[in-house]
Amino acid sequence: MFWLYAFVSAALTSQVNAAAVSGKASSFAGSTSTFQFPPADVTATASLGDSFFPDASEVGFAGPTPTGDEAESVATAPAVAPVKGYFPLVRPDTSDKKGHAFDVVKSWANLSPMQSVQSFGLVNATEQIPEGCKINQVFLLHRHGARYPTSGSSPETFATDIHSAAGNGTLTATGPLEFLNTWTYKLGAELLTPFGREQLFNLGVGFRVKYGDLLKNFTGLPVWRTTSEARMVDSALHFAAGFFGVQSYQSSYRQIIEIEEDGFNSTLVPWSQCPNAENAIYELGHDATSAWNKVYLIDAQKRFSQYLPGFNLTIQDVAGMQALCPYETVALGYSAFCDLFTEEEWKGFAYGIDLDFWYGDGPGNPAVSAQGIGWVQELVSRLTKTRITTFDTTLNGSIVGSNVTFPLDQPIYVDASHDTVISAVLPAMNFTFFAAGGPLPLDHIPESQTYKVQEISPFASRLVGQVLSCPASDTPTHIRWLLNDGVLPQTGIQGCGYDPNGLCDFDTFVAGMKQRIDEVDFVFDCYANYSLTLQNDTITNGQFPQ
Ligand SMILES: *[C@@H]1O[C@H](CO)[C@@H](O)[C@H](O)[C@H]1NC(C)=O
Ligand SMILES: *[C@@H]1O[C@H](CO)[C@@H](O)[C@H](O)[C@H]1NC(C)=O
Ligand SMILES: *[C@@H]1O[C@H](CO)[C@@H](O)[C@H](O)[C@H]1NC(C)=O
Ligand SMILES: *[C@@H]1O[C@H](CO)[C@@H](O)[C@H](O)[C@H]1NC(C)=O
Ligand SMILES: *[C@@H]1O[C@H](CO)[C@@H](O)[C@H](O)[C@H]1NC(C)=O
Ligand SMILES: *[C@@H]1O[C@H](CO)[C@@H](O)[C@H](O)[C@H]1NC(C)=O
Ligand SMILES: *[C@@H]1O[C@H](CO)[C@@H](O)[C@H](O)[C@H]1NC(C)=O
Ligand SMILES: *[C@@H]1O[C@H](CO)[C@@H](O)[C@H](O)[C@H]1NC(C)=O
Ligand SMILES: *[C@@H]1O[C@H](CO)[C@@H](O)[C@H](O)[C@H]1NC(C)=O
Ligand SMILES: *[C@@H]1O[C@H](CO)[C@@H](O)[C@H](O)[C@H]1NC(C)=O
Repeated sequence: MFWLYAFVSAALTSQVNAAAVSGKASSFAGSTSTFQFPPADVTATASLGDSFFPDASEVGFAGPTPTGDEAESVATAPAVAPVKGYFPLVRPDTSDKKGHAFDVVKSWANLSPMQSVQSFGLVNATEQIPEGCKINQVFLLHRHGARYPTSGSSPETFATDIHSAAGNGTLTATGPLEFLNTWTYKLGAELLTPFGREQLFNLGVGFRVKYGDLLKNFTGLPVWRTTSEARMVDSALHFAAGFFGVQSYQSSYRQIIEIEEDGFNSTLVPWSQCPNAENAIYELGHDATSAWNKVYLIDAQKRFSQYLPGFNLTIQDVAGMQALCPYETVALGYSAFCDLFTEEEWKGFAYGIDLDFWYGDGPGNPAVSAQGIGWVQELVSRLTKTRITTFDTTLNGSIVGSNVTFPLDQPIYVDASHDTVISAVLPAMNFTFFAAGGPLPLDHIPESQTYKVQEISPFASRLVGQVLSCPASDTPTHIRWLLNDGVLPQTGIQGCGYDPNGLCDFDTFVAGMKQRIDEVDFVFDCYANYSLTLQNDTITNGQFPQ
């Protein structure tokens, strides 16, 4: 059951009813229209060997095929292009300030399409590697692309309520809600949407243009990792297709698929090995969102109720309506739910998810650094080229113990994972920037908020580590981290200090990560019987105070 919560956490689904949901498609009540292509009785694969449809190698005549040299735009260009658009999604408006500069899409938190972050406080730092440095190696930890809602989420619950009212003839929606009389719920669950595929393909293309030159230092095929969930495999393959091209990606690298299921170890899905990740404390995130929903959605509940005579519209329904905006938009390109809400309500929506992450999957949860520390152990292993031999966290010994499945000499590392893993790795590494404002309040949005899920774990989020030598040499001297293209300050990491470009001395960073591995008490934080409430949870580092 927990795996369900883990993703759901992601989804503003504060009031998920576990009893009503098994996580299986059969219990999926929401969708009123579904479609599958190609038709079940048609198979396309035969056409590959079919004489009517010879493939490209059989046809020949490919024209000239000279290859060019690799790109490395982070080193050669004066500036790297930011991710700004979200074609083909229609940009939504708000119900009050029509045509205003405010971009609703940036208020979707973990449901926002990734957009480059301008700055995490280092105003002059850019993605370009600093003058006088060479890039020796790059690390990528990315999230899957835009997906359908997770099973049992609030949009599905709302759809079920509306459809049953429509089904028994008691629905008479009027005014701006009139469309509900004929509206159908067209979303599936869990899978990547076409736009989500585009995001990962583009991430692969972008990574090739920024870091392709590092391919020259591979002696074998790259080994990149993802997990077994359908959207995770799909995301990894689209990244590879973008990076290598669809004609050659299958022969250009090896894909590790770690099992994503209760009882299996994987640092890319760490929750099932950490029992406290699924107990009442984890629920603090949902509780915080529920409390906040009652603050910021009261007006919308009143406003909409007058257009739904006879329908008991709960706060949870209104939250579901609001979440339908991002979900329909990333799946269908447009949603009629978006401009029912005001600009303030969109800011409230983002904040509700910020609360959920802070208390459930981020600095405010005492079992979060423990969940992120396994990936940090792997990072240290890769940076120091030292094989891990003790498996006492979420590490999978059979994967990480082998130089076939876990090579230590790669110039480019790519790991695919989830929003809640990126949000766990940041406190595990001690990126204190996000905790600067302290615990998030439940009754108002604080003015100087640094913890914003839209900047941390949007769809296709990416955490990039640049290993550098300054001056250029074959021995790394520095490392720095970019989250969604914004350079992270490393001041929280012991010894790193302030640097305008976010640089930390390589050996100092490695020593800091080793110290973090010692500081994070995996067994206590994941297994001990402690208790916290929203009132006394003042944690800001993802660890239980010792
Ligand atoms: C950023 O760059 C500007 C222009 O070079 C300089 O005046 C300013 O001091 C720099 N700010 C920081 C924080 O380094
Ligand atoms: C790749 O390896 C070669 C040989 O070890 C070295 O000379 C070169 O600098 C390396 N390239 C990078 C980008 O580190
Ligand atoms: C119709 O459906 C709604 C929503 O599920 C429910 O609240 C209401 O009781 C139903 N009315 C009748 C007459 O069945
Ligand atoms: C580690 O991963 C392998 C390969 O997916 C799997 O067979 C094995 O069961 C995993 N081990 C644990 C302890 O989860
Ligand atoms: C509306 O729903 C809420 C929550 O389920 C419930 O507490 C309340 O009694 C219902 N009101 C009416 C008039 O049915
Ligand atoms: C799986 O993780 C547990 C700790 O959560 C650890 O005790 C065990 O050794 C790990 N198994 C493998 C094969 O890595
Ligand atoms: C992997 O490690 C084994 C034993 O340590 C070694 O014999 C083998 O050559 C290594 N393989 C690769 C591909 O590095
Ligand atoms: C992590 O941050 C805490 C403060 O929150 C500090 O006490 C500790 O020394 C830091 N550890 C490392 C390795 O950076
Ligand atoms: C945890 O502690 C509480 C009281 O602090 C106790 O009621 C509960 O039974 C304990 N649970 C376990 C699993 O030990
Ligand atoms: C927080 O408050 C709860 C309820 O009063 C209490 O059981 C728990 O021990 C407190 N936790 C801490 C860390 O103070």
